[in-house]
Amino acid sequence: MSLMANSQDQEIGSSPFSEVLKDLHSQYKSLQEGTVAKYIPELAKVNPNLFSICIATTDGQIYEVGDYQQLFTIQSISKVFVYGQALEDHGRDYVLTRVGVEPTGEAFNAIILDEQSKRPYNPMVNAGAIATTSLIKGNGATERLNRLLEMYRRYIGRDVFVDISVFTSERSTGHRNRATAHLMLNFGMIDQNIEEALDLYFQQCSVMVNCRDLAVMAATLANKGVNPISKEKAVDSCYIKDILSVMYTCGMYNFAGEWAYKIGIPAKSGVCGGIIAVVPGQMGIGVFSPLLDARGNSLRGVKVCEELSQRLGLHLFECAGNW
Ligand code: DON
Repeated sequence: MSLMANSQDQEIGSSPFSEVLKDLHSQYKSLQEGTVAKYIPELAKVNPNLFSICIATTDGQIYEVGDYQQLFTIQSISKVFVYGQALEDHGRDYVLTRVGVEPTGEAFNAIILDEQSKRPYNPMVNAGAIATTSLIKGNGATERLNRLLEMYRRYIGRDVFVDISVFTSERSTGHRNRATAHLMLNFGMIDQNIEEALDLYFQQCSVMVNCRDLAVMAATLANKGVNPISKEKAVDSCYIKDILSVMYTCGMYNFAGEWAYKIGIPAKSGVCGGIIAVVPGQMGIGVFSPLLDARGNSLRGVKVCEELSQRLGLHLFECAGNW
């Protein structure tokens, strides 16, 4: 295990954050419940023991513990950032005609649309995410992919790549997502070229990141859209409230209500075992542990965030805290 507090890769010594991260890592590393995602064959190969926690503050400090340099595919955490890009590409009003902001209370891959509007419920579940991905502007598939890779670069501060094995694995087994896309095509919620939209969706999910990247991406949202390390603007600040609102109400799927109640900060999980959580104005949190609970959320990740929220007083409605 390694633990460091870094500012632009300079060790700056211990802090209360370092101690808390170290404690949580040693407390939960032996927890062996849950199972890695298997429905995408390539994901089933991951080492279940990998575990890392990282905090990036809005003033550019990074605290990390465990396997924080280990790369994995970002999976559904991508939905947050692609939603932001769709908002920038089309504006709030138009995006709202294609995807709602209502929690489903259902699993992330439920094949359901809102009965009246025929929209997918929200951009954090698969149906809504495929719809937002289909909105990404660009002249052809390559330009659209390059625009998403460029978007990731702004949030992370380095170039990122698609893991081709995971992409092709999901592309050849993603029949549920294909069915969802056909249903939305039937109701005019996405345009004709659904195979291209699905490819881009599978590619955005297959981008390789590490736990530190997750924390910096979350910290960028916490810092009004500006990457706190590179100082580059990643997304227009006028869309931060849209992004954080849907993360808060829908980001943890059919656990979103309990998450909001107990942990109380906007978050998003992925079947890779990653979770990001955003404390507005203060910090971004990234956790990575591939053992998932029945809802597809990282088991250790949920426990770590719950305890971090309690120990650091992060719940947005904590009376002793922010207001
Ligand atoms: O659509 C899928 O199945 C994946 N590429 C992403 C799913 C995911 O991460 C759901 N999160 N818990």
